[in-house]
Amino acid sequence: MVAETRLTPDDLIAPLFVREGAREPQPIASLPGVVQHSPESLRAEVAHLLDVGVPAMILFGIPEHRDGDGSGASDPEGVVQVALRDLRDRFGDEIVLIADLCLDEYTDHGHCGLLTPSGAVDNDSTLDRYAEIAVAQAEAGADIVAPSGMMDGQVAAIRDALDEEDFADTAILAYAAKFASGLYGPFRDAVDVEIAGGGDRRAYQQDPANAREALEEVRADVAEGADLIMVKPAVTYLDVIARVRAEHDLPLAAYHVSGEYAMIKAAAANGWINGDAVALEQLLAVKRAGADLILTYFAREIAEVIG
Ligand code: PBG
Repeated sequence: MVAETRLTPDDLIAPLFVREGAREPQPIASLPGVVQHSPESLRAEVAHLLDVGVPAMILFGIPEHRDGDGSGASDPEGVVQVALRDLRDRFGDEIVLIADLCLDEYTDHGHCGLLTPSGAVDNDSTLDRYAEIAVAQAEAGADIVAPSGMMDGQVAAIRDALDEEDFADTAILAYAAKFASGLYGPFRDAVDVEIAGGGDRRAYQQDPANAREALEEVRADVAEGADLIMVKPAVTYLDVIARVRAEHDLPLAAYHVSGEYAMIKAAAANGWINGDAVALEQLLAVKRAGADLILTYFAREIAEVIG
C-alpha cells in the first residue's frame, strides 16, 4: 500500500535480435535465455510478450552481409525492415515497434558510423546514412526509431528526413546519454560485431566519469526534437537517470544492458544470488531513480513474475 515505486509489465521494452537467413533460433552463449531469432521464433516471442503484458519491443538485426556503408541497415529488404513489416502485418496496432537505428551491426568494421580514409568515424556523412535508415524503418512500420550511434546532430537529421517523407508521426527515442561502457560485451556477441583493430567507441560515446557532459548531450537531443530520451547503461548510471528526470519532462527510458543481464544470470547460475530477486530489485531501482521505461533482456521473465 505504501510502495512509492511500482514496476509493471508495460514499463518494459524487450530487445529482440533477428538473424537474416536463420531457420532456427540461435542461442547466445553470453546471454542465456536470449536468442538470435528466425522469423518464426520472432513472431512466437512477440506473441508471448503480449500474453504477459509487454507491448513494446526494440529490434536489432544480424545481416548476412556487411560492407563499408552498412547498406543492409537501410535496404527495404534488410533483415530488420522485413521483420518490422511481418510483425506489423501480424499484430497490427497491438504492439509498439521500435527499431534500433545504427550502423555497427551492418558495417564490416563494426563502428557506428562511416569511416574516413584514415579510419576515424566521420560524424557528418554518417548523418545522411542515419536519415536513410530512419525512412526505411518508418516505411517498414516502425512506430519509433531509436538512434544509438551517438553522432552529433543525429536527432535533427533524422527528424528532418522523417518529416520530409511524410513520417511526421514516427517518434524518436534518442539514446541521449550513452556511456562507453564495458557492459556491452555480451551484446556484441549477440550481433556478432567485432570493432575493427580492437577499437572502442570512446570517440563518440560518453566518458563514464562525466555526468554533467551527459546532461549536455541530453539537452542537445531534446533541442533537436527527441520525443523520448534514454540513459544507458542503467544501474551504473542511476545518478544520471535521476538528474535527467529532474530536468526533463519527456518520457525517460533506461537501458538495462547485456552485461547487467549477464552478470545476474551468471551469479544466479552459480547459486550465489537469487536471479529473479536481484533482477526485480535492479529494475525497481531504475524506476525509483526516475525512469518511466526500461529496456531489458529480463522483460518476459520478469513480466511473468510481476504480471
Ligand atoms: C549500438 C548498440 C549497442 C547496444 C545497443 N545499441 C552496442 C554498442 O554501443 O557497442 C548495447 C546494448 C547492450 O549491451 O545490451 N548499435
